[in-house]
Amino acid sequence: MNWRKDCQAQLQHIVEAMLITPKRDNLNKIVILNPKGGCGKSTLATNIAACYARRGPQPAIMDYDPQGSTIAWLKRRSNDLPTIHGIAAFKKSMQATRSWQLRVPDDTVNLIVDSPASISHDDLREFTRDSSSILVPVLPSSMDIDAASKCIADLLLVAKVNRNEGKLAVIANRTRKHTKSFGRLMRFLDSLGIPIIAVLRDSQNFVHAVEQGVGLHEMQPSRVRPDVEQIEKIVTWLDGWEARRTRALKITGMRRQPFSRVSILRKSQVRSV
Ligand SMILES: Nc1ncnc2c1ncn2[C@@H]1O[C@H](COP(=O)(O)OP(=O)(O)OP(=O)(O)O)[C@@H](O)[C@H]1O
Ligand SMILES: [Mg+2]
Repeated sequence: MNWRKDCQAQLQHIVEAMLITPKRDNLNKIVILNPKGGCGKSTLATNIAACYARRGPQPAIMDYDPQGSTIAWLKRRSNDLPTIHGIAAFKKSMQATRSWQLRVPDDTVNLIVDSPASISHDDLREFTRDSSSILVPVLPSSMDIDAASKCIADLLLVAKVNRNEGKLAVIANRTRKHTKSFGRLMRFLDSLGIPIIAVLRDSQNFVHAVEQGVGLHEMQPSRVRPDVEQIEKIVTWLDGWEARRTRALKITGMRRQPFSRVSILRKSQVRSV
């Protein structure tokens, strides 16, 4: 009866996935995603979280990376710095229900989701469900550019992210200007018509910030000014999420009801719709 086990496993997976985040109209759920390992997802997540923490109210960071990089960064964070709520989503606890483990504090306005490398198509759909912004960090090597183009195609075709919603943006990471690969990366992103909202240079500042449990703007300003400017550009773009959603609703007449709610209607309800 393998099919029964398969069905049960799938059902469990769907139920767990539906519990990933609460459906709250005022929650800015920022998903950082690219199945290519090492492209800078966790680094970006920590810097965005630190930026929101400084501004307040306290943001939350949900870590799906099995290496627990962002939770480890939070642990290294000094008590004197603005706090960030950490959710270790990569851990499966036997003591707590999944929904309890993944709960987001009621007063959270900004939730940053750090996704793992190598995610399946099902996970891609679930991670992006109810997201207000999706950030794809891309490195400028040929292999990374190929992986990023596949990731973006999957987001559009598999996860059905609508480009008109304007929630998808790319961040060029670890770039060295004037190199051939940098030019190729820019042409590739341009051809997709997806905005490149920041260009992060290859800098040890990012490495040191992660090691010290800080965000870049919590470091000595004279050392990190160009990097901080780029992180602020990202946060400014993220802050426009409600305006982007309203614009998209006007343009496309999209309904706000999330697909998950439609999919759990009973047959009788479907007939009456
Ligand atoms: N702009 C940058 N300049 C220099 N080093 C960077 C930069 N961005 C990230 N790194 C370094 O690259 C490495 C990988 O970054 P990170 O762990 O954030 O990637 P990731 O996408 O989360 O990886 P994984 O897919 O394994 O979770 C880390 O050592 C990090 O310090
Ligand atoms: Mg990571």
